Amino acid sequence: MVDNDFKPAGFLNIPIPKDIELTAEINKLKNEKNAVILAHYYQEGEIQDIADFVGDSLALAQWAAKTEAAIIVLCGVHFMGETAKILSPDKRVFVPDLNAGCSLADSCPADKFAEFIKKHPDHVVISYVNTTAAVKTLTDVVVTSTNARQIVDSFPPETKIIFGPDANLGNYINGLTGRNMVLWEGACHVHEQFSLEKILQLKVVYPDALILAHPECKSPVLKIADHVGSTASLLKFATASSFDKFIVATEAGILHEMQKKNPDKLFIPAPPNDSTCACNECNFMKLNTLEKLYNCLQYEMPELFVDAEIIKKAVKPIRKMLEISERLGY
Ligand code: 13P
Ligand code: SF4
Repeated sequence: MVDNDFKPAGFLNIPIPKDIELTAEINKLKNEKNAVILAHYYQEGEIQDIADFVGDSLALAQWAAKTEAAIIVLCGVHFMGETAKILSPDKRVFVPDLNAGCSLADSCPADKFAEFIKKHPDHVVISYVNTTAAVKTLTDVVVTSTNARQIVDSFPPETKIIFGPDANLGNYINGLTGRNMVLWEGACHVHEQFSLEKILQLKVVYPDALILAHPECKSPVLKIADHVGSTASLLKFATASSFDKFIVATEAGILHEMQKKNPDKLFIPAPPNDSTCACNECNFMKLNTLEKLYNCLQYEMPELFVDAEIIKKAVKPIRKMLEISERLGY
C-alpha cells in the first residue's frame, strides 16, 4: 500500500503591504474569487470571525460537500482540507499553511495500519476523521467525535470492529457501548496533556463550575467530566446550560465561540500538565494566521491536491459517514 502522507509544502511568506486592512481585503478577495472560508473552532479568533462558517470536523465536511463556491479555504489542519477535497474534487482547496498537520493522524501511518488490519481479519474498520486520506482508503466507515458512538452502534453487537487511531476515544466508546473494539494506540498530543490533578485544582477554585471534555482526553479526565463531546457538542451544552462557569478540557480556541455566544458566562481553559501555560493550544491549528489567509486568497497558494485514485477509495467511507449522520439527524 502506498502511503500518501502529505509532504509539507508550507505557506507563502510574502510580505503584506503595511497600509492594507486585512479583514476588508480578505472579504474583497473572497467575493471576487467566489471562495468560501471554512474554519474550525480551534482557529485564532480573528480567523473564526472572518469565516463564512465555523464548525467541528463533521460540520466542516458537510459544508465542504455542499458548497457551490469555486474555492474552499479550509482554515484548519491538513486532514480537514483533504476531506474537503475528497468530497468536492472539482473545487480548488487551500489551507493557509499546509504544514498544519495533526499528531493524531501522524500516529497512524497507512502502511502500519494496513498490517494491523491484516492481523485482524473479519473486522469492520472504523476510522476517526483525524487520519490521512491513505488511511481512509483502508476504512469501511469514517466517524467524527460527534457521531462516533452512534455509528459504532449502527453495527450489530456481535460485529468485530477495529477502531483507530484515537485510543482514548475508542476506549470511551467501548465503555459507552459495552463493546470490545480492537484499538489502534494513537493519541493527540494536545488532549493527552490535560491532567486530572490540574483540573481538580481548578475545581477547588471554581467549585460550581461544570467540567467539559473532548473525548480525545485520557480516561481519568473523561470520568470526572460533566459533559463529554465534540467541540460543537461542548459549545451547545455550555450554551444551553443554566450553569454559568465551565472548565474546558479541549483546545483553547473553542473558548472564543463559547464566550461570544455566552458573554455572561465564565469559561476557564484547563491547563496542560507539564507547563506553566494557563491553556492548551494545538500548535498545528495555530499555524494558520490572518496574514497567511490573505496571501492564500491573493496568490491562490498553497493548494491542496489528493491523488485521484486515493479520492475514489477514500470518498466511500466518508460518504457513508455523511449518509448515516444525515439519517441520525446530524
Ligand atoms: P471536533 O471534530 O470535535 O471539532 O474535533 C477535531 C479535533 O481535531 C479535536 O482535536
Ligand atoms: Fe490533531 Fe490534536 Fe490538533 Fe486536533 S488538537 S488537530 S487531534 S493535534
